[in-house]
Amino acid sequence: MADASNRLLVTAALPYANGPVHIGHLAGAYLPADLFVRYQRLNGRDVAFICGSDEMGVAILMRALREGRDPQDIVDTYHPMIRDSFADFGMSFDYYGRTTSATHAETSQDFFRTLDAQDAFDLKTNEQLYDPEAEMFLADRFVVGTCPVCGYDEAYGDQCEQCGSSLSPTELIDPRSTLTDATPALRETTHWYLPLDRMQPWLEEWIGTHPEWKNNVLGQVQSWFNEGLKGRAITRDVPWGVPVPADVAARHGLEAEGKVIYVWFDAPIGYISATKEWAAAQGTPQRWKEYWQDDDTELVHFIGKDNIVFHCLMFPAMLHAHGDYVLPEHVPANEFLNIEGQKLSTSRGWAVWLHEYLDDFPDYGADMLRYALAATLPETKDADFSWDGFQNRVNGELADVLGNFVNRTLTFAHRYFDGAVPEARDLSDVDRDVLAQLKQTPATIGAAYEDYRMREAVFETMQLARLGNKYFNDTAPWHTRTDDPQAAANTVHICVQLCASLSILMEPVLPDAAQRLRAMLNLTNVRPSTPGEAPDTALTWEDAATPLLDAGHALGTPSILFEKVEDEQIDAQLDKLQSPDPTPDDMGYEPLKDTITFGDFMDLDLRVGTVTTAEPVPDADKLLRLEVDLGFEERQILAGVAQHMAPDEIVGRTVVVVANLATKEMFGLESQGMVLMAEDRDGNLSLLSTDSENGAVVR
Ligand code: MF3
Ligand code: ZN
Repeated sequence: MADASNRLLVTAALPYANGPVHIGHLAGAYLPADLFVRYQRLNGRDVAFICGSDEMGVAILMRALREGRDPQDIVDTYHPMIRDSFADFGMSFDYYGRTTSATHAETSQDFFRTLDAQDAFDLKTNEQLYDPEAEMFLADRFVVGTCPVCGYDEAYGDQCEQCGSSLSPTELIDPRSTLTDATPALRETTHWYLPLDRMQPWLEEWIGTHPEWKNNVLGQVQSWFNEGLKGRAITRDVPWGVPVPADVAARHGLEAEGKVIYVWFDAPIGYISATKEWAAAQGTPQRWKEYWQDDDTELVHFIGKDNIVFHCLMFPAMLHAHGDYVLPEHVPANEFLNIEGQKLSTSRGWAVWLHEYLDDFPDYGADMLRYALAATLPETKDADFSWDGFQNRVNGELADVLGNFVNRTLTFAHRYFDGAVPEARDLSDVDRDVLAQLKQTPATIGAAYEDYRMREAVFETMQLARLGNKYFNDTAPWHTRTDDPQAAANTVHICVQLCASLSILMEPVLPDAAQRLRAMLNLTNVRPSTPGEAPDTALTWEDAATPLLDAGHALGTPSILFEKVEDEQIDAQLDKLQSPDPTPDDMGYEPLKDTITFGDFMDLDLRVGTVTTAEPVPDADKLLRLEVDLGFEERQILAGVAQHMAPDEIVGRTVVVVANLATKEMFGLESQGMVLMAEDRDGNLSLLSTDSENGAVVR
């Protein structure tokens, strides 16, 4: 059914508008989605490619509270930034919306209302964590505590990042508020729940109809099934989100005041509201229904692996419960991208930010990154991005293989064939073989895209340029030009055709270079891979299987397709990455010593004392002789501070003394303990002081 349909609705996960986009996002969802969509558009499919900013939810509110800003202010900062960097990267969305729009509030409230009216939800009243200082319920990430599964003491209220367990706030041991650090109290509240437990049989049956989904996706889904799905609260008591409609609350005798719809309920509905806004902007406000409600639509969600449960279970359950909507045909989730062998971490600065990258690589930067990432997408397992690998892809493949092939073909045509496509006649077996391979190529690359094997599609694309180079070398037109001019003409004719086909086939991954190559070839009338109508006569993906330029066609002016990336540029990028775990040593501090037990520490007897006397020690220019009153006794202590402090700076100060240190003799004097001091990175010493009485125990 799906294959017969021409209508394709593709979504890419809505990024949270609480920070800029990094290459991990690109590799997870956005680049594969764009490759797929551009290929499908070139192939003549009717595509709506929908995305937008996820602006509700606790992630946004937390950032706002942390920075003392209004949540609206946060999303107004990041939404345009994300939208623009996506555009500069060549993301070819038909529409990029945002979930703070009026359409979205209305659409998600309607959805919620419809499900409520069908009694598709459970309402449950129970005790939840409440922060008495912030006067707020502590949903999700507003509370941290010890994970009941693995004991990690910084687990969030919705999930433990150490062991991956999905949690609810009340399961945390020793919970504390991330807003005020207060210990939360329990308070009663009522929430709507999506009964995923009751929907499990249907979900299992439906997932069972998709054995073709990727193993990483089916594996995760299966383990959720094995654990048994649980009802999930889909409302929250937080001051940011799509409000629970008053009429729906009233139906249950409740107040809607203070209650919002959970972000994972409203955000996927954002795909629907953005499609509505897109249709309205096209002047066909009802047309969104064709994409969402007509069974002939093929719906595909591109996401990263952390979104699998929401797109494979929760959203389909919502769509199914509603009844009017199509279900996803495919959810091609990618795994994670590491950087230089380390897990990407925004908090530790171990990330490559898209907007910064595009500033650093103003020339052809988008294409270079698209290519380098496409070649290492984490399709089946986590993958690694390295700057060295990036440089090799750009220099060794984009410049040396693709750019070189185009350049030698076009310069040769200009130098020896007046810049026109020479006529081909009496083809050799080698010539015919190359044309036969060209004939297969669009189908080979296309099959890989259709199957969500983007890496392979991009590899096969570059294979065509490799084939061109090999053919150019093997037929050596610089020799045949004098002894067999027709052979040279045939080579150039065929190489120009390969370039023309490449300019279509490389468009999904290298949209900018594809345009530049077409200008060099003076090739027009190719179907765009971006949104918009194309004339029926425009060349499509399949047309790339056969020669596109007639003999005599005047070529344009050749120019460099890709410049090489210099070592200095790579070094600068490496410098930008902050070391994920700087050791104290890296920062100039004294290295940490080996761990000791609590018992080891308790063996120390630390006491408060007051220095009553301080005087130089004859012949010892580093030492001062101190007398310290410990309350119950006087001690004589030799301290190595003579070069840092004058005796009168010390007399009268309270200090901390190691009171059970074995006595030691120096310069004929007994030292009966040690005075504790802090030494900073410049070697400055300072005494530890306390307000306590002499003899007090320090521990
Ligand atoms: N904002 C979520 C994230 O970044 C993704 C939301 S996808 C949607 O993980 F389907 F909910 F929109
Ligand atoms: Zn845990």
